[in-house]
Amino acid sequence: MANKNTKKNNYPKNVGIIMDGNGRWALKNSLKISQGHKQGVEIVKKIVEESVKQNIKSLTLYAFSSENWKRPKAEINAIKKLVIEAINEQVPELKEQKVSLKFFGHLNDFGKKILQKIAYAENKTKCKSSKLDLNIALGYGGQQDIVDVVKNISSMVLSKEIKIEDINEKTINKNSSVPVDEIDLLIRTGGDNRISNFLLFQIAYAEIMFVDKYWPDFTTNDYMKCLNNFKKVSRRFGRRI
Ligand code: IPE
Ligand code: IPE
Ligand code: MG
Repeated sequence: MANKNTKKNNYPKNVGIIMDGNGRWALKNSLKISQGHKQGVEIVKKIVEESVKQNIKSLTLYAFSSENWKRPKAEINAIKKLVIEAINEQVPELKEQKVSLKFFGHLNDFGKKILQKIAYAENKTKCKSSKLDLNIALGYGGQQDIVDVVKNISSMVLSKEIKIEDINEKTINKNSSVPVDEIDLLIRTGGDNRISNFLLFQIAYAEIMFVDKYWPDFTTNDYMKCLNNFKKVSRRFGRRI
């Protein structure tokens, strides 16, 4: 039996995932890139279910970056179509599981149709006591978000809403489009060891795990390995312990 002095880490509260590798997975399987993204959505469903099971508080997923607008038009259109399809298909199930959906990023760039779907999805899944907050980054870039925050705070200073000396980390979080203030565990699949402009401010003390598998090959077992590894980590936050 665990001694009451035994230090036991819990699973992370706030998880972020950079879901990379859909394109390479498709090529590896002689499929179209869009089929890689489609398979990627299937994995999202499984990871969401597992997150609910494991009592994760929030799951923040990188679905489309500011830089992904540089991709071929056909691929972008396929992703847009998938977002709409996924919302249509998943919302009833998410509601049932008490998963509350939120989208963030420069959403206006996606056009009216997606904006309306997003509003529908967020309204339908709004829940006072949600089991899981599922945040989807769409047209999001960490640097762009910081620029937006600086603009917001500057105009608040100019209109004398706040004083410069009152600006702190909380002010930044409050003015950011990112729905979660700090990430405990960040996972990146696909084999590359980089952040690619995902959450910058919010990952200050995140444990970062790079997984050498394409996102469509990522399993709940791989996810559990990451969650269990997190439990073993000593998080010092700068302290001497
Ligand atoms: C991640 O997979 C999904 C998006 C960026 C939309 P990729 O499409 O980047 O897959 P790879 O990195 O080319 O394999
Ligand atoms: C990061 O993947 C963005 C998403 C997973 C949505 P990318 O494939 O766009 O990143 P880079 O280009 O390899 O850095
Ligand atoms: Mg990629």
